[in-house]
Amino acid sequence: MDTLVAKAPLSSQAAEILRTGIETAGGPVSLACSFSLEDVAIIDIAHQAGIILGVFALDTGRLNEETYEVADALVERYRLRIDWYVPRHEAVEELERTEGLFSFRETLEKRHTCCGIRKVEPLSRALRGLAGWVTGMRREQSITRGDLKAIEQDGLNGGILKINPLLDWNEEQLFRYTAENRLPKNRLYSQGYRSIGCAPCTRSVQPGEDSRAGRWWWENPENKECGLHRR
Ligand code: ADX
Ligand code: SF4
Repeated sequence: MDTLVAKAPLSSQAAEILRTGIETAGGPVSLACSFSLEDVAIIDIAHQAGIILGVFALDTGRLNEETYEVADALVERYRLRIDWYVPRHEAVEELERTEGLFSFRETLEKRHTCCGIRKVEPLSRALRGLAGWVTGMRREQSITRGDLKAIEQDGLNGGILKINPLLDWNEEQLFRYTAENRLPKNRLYSQGYRSIGCAPCTRSVQPGEDSRAGRWWWENPENKECGLHRR
């Protein structure tokens, strides 16, 4: 009973943000799903609250197998339809032919080029026709996300709404929600991963390290955005 009381306000607050965001957007809204604990929790919260939400995923071509396994588990559990977006093949072919397979480790500019081709351009196609999109971003994740709003206008993407229902959740609350609701969980979390993106740009973190320390670990914290969430 205690557990139920404790978890109710958090998930109902997230459901409320989703409802208000969708109503304010006044048109189709989809979740950008990276199959993180955050995104899976949002799918579950929407499902439990009867909120209709599209789901799209950007398949960069460099994701971990474990991430695809979560996608499969979600399809099975929620009978979910996932709209997958892949990068333009000509752009990837040109990148790999001219720069090789790991150019993103050489300079910040080259990393942004890779993220631009594999994430940002496909995102722009995924957002076409949407009035809003939902993300699993949380304020505590990074210094670049500290001033996140529950519902904001996305100036980078034509001014559509960006809805962040878990903005105030901390990692412990997220783990608790995942465990209590027995949600599908990427197996990499049990190997010390705390934030999961593309395989070659993500690694596990040591105790005491920042949760995003394993993302682009060779870069400074203020650069740890890939362009999906530049603000
Ligand atoms: S990233 O910009 O550093 O890669 P992060 O992994 O923290 O982002 O995820 C934040 C949110 O961005 C996710 O909760 C999800 O909404 C969205 N996102 C990130 N990667 C993807 C992806 N490959 N496909 C769809 N959405 C994504
Ligand atoms: Fe490329 Fe790494 Fe960005 Fe993925 S995270 S798109 S592999 S630079």
